[in-house]
Amino acid sequence: MVEQPVDIPVRKSFSPGELFLPVLRQWYAFKARYRNFRISAGTTRLLGPQYRRSRERIEIDITYVCNLRCLNCNRSISQAPEKLHISLSRIRQFVDESIARGKRWKGIRVLGGEPTLHPEFLPITEELLRYQQWDPDCIITVVSNGYGKAVNEMLKKVPSSIQIENTSKTGNLQPSFGAFNVAPVDDPKFANADFRNGCDIMENCGMGLTPLGYYPCAVAGGIDRIAGKNLGSAALPADDDDMLGAASELCRLCGHFRDGHCAPPEMRPILLKQEMSPTWTAMFESRKTIRLAQRHTADQAQKDEVQVE
Ligand SMILES: C[S@@+](CC[C@H](N)C(=O)[O-])C[C@H]1O[C@@H](n2cnc3c(N)ncnc32)[C@H](O)[C@@H]1O
Ligand code: SF4
Ligand code: SF4
Repeated sequence: MVEQPVDIPVRKSFSPGELFLPVLRQWYAFKARYRNFRISAGTTRLLGPQYRRSRERIEIDITYVCNLRCLNCNRSISQAPEKLHISLSRIRQFVDESIARGKRWKGIRVLGGEPTLHPEFLPITEELLRYQQWDPDCIITVVSNGYGKAVNEMLKKVPSSIQIENTSKTGNLQPSFGAFNVAPVDDPKFANADFRNGCDIMENCGMGLTPLGYYPCAVAGGIDRIAGKNLGSAALPADDDDMLGAASELCRLCGHFRDGHCAPPEMRPILLKQEMSPTWTAMFESRKTIRLAQRHTADQAQKDEVQVE
């Protein structure tokens, strides 16, 4: 007689995360539907923008130099590399202005690009410590990719009262990144959106200071580097300034506007290539053209000088 196979129940290893995944999915689907309704021109007229730029937290992009070239980087480091740093005097001015105005920052985050590669990284941390001496409750954090010897050597020198957030990158591919260079303005789904709504980055991560000035968030400053709209403020904006003009112009280009909030990595689609919508392609192209023209003019000026000599 042939023996019938017996169904032996297989005991799967249990992960508590799996239990909550369907609930999380439903919650984020609901948030997405609410977001679509909330950012429409009509709802925004009635309720005002969904998010307000922070008055308590600031993210400072001190450099656009990086030793990685992550696809879809939200500072366009791989898409448009540039040796552009914030000056030490700008940081000094920020600290002076903050103290003079009695501004108590809950958090100051130092980013980029890769912040540890700024040629004056340690003097910048010293300046920020001057602020922390005035307001010991302020949490200062350096956000680093933690990649390579030079970066890790510099991280060891960070003063102990400054925290380090090491994102521990190991290469240029970050599958959980959002499609940052897919501009909502290129998508008919956002035809009726009011872009002043921004996203939770400007409210929860902080407003931004970049080599081009102050912005509703640091990402917006990175967008303006490419868009060339010069919307950065030279001085720290007053607390009653929502910076809505800059948000309206720059959030329309920002891929983060699409969701409007940060979802846990398990909830995000896997992104394995550089995505780009037509407005971004055109902006990168025109930037390249301008740069070539500038180089040509500089070369010509040099030739003219040689001829004069
Ligand atoms: C621009 S990076 C600068 C600091 C440092 N270079 C790093 O990668 O940790 C700041 C943060 O933005 C995240 N980020 C950059 N592009 C992103 C994107 N398209 N989607 C989601 N997060 C992104 C990075 O992982 C990092 O946590
Ligand atoms: S390491 Fe950070 S700044 Fe550098 S390319 Fe990657 S995400 Fe952008
Ligand atoms: S949509 Fe982009 S630019 Fe606008 S607040 Fe969010 S991250 Fe900043």
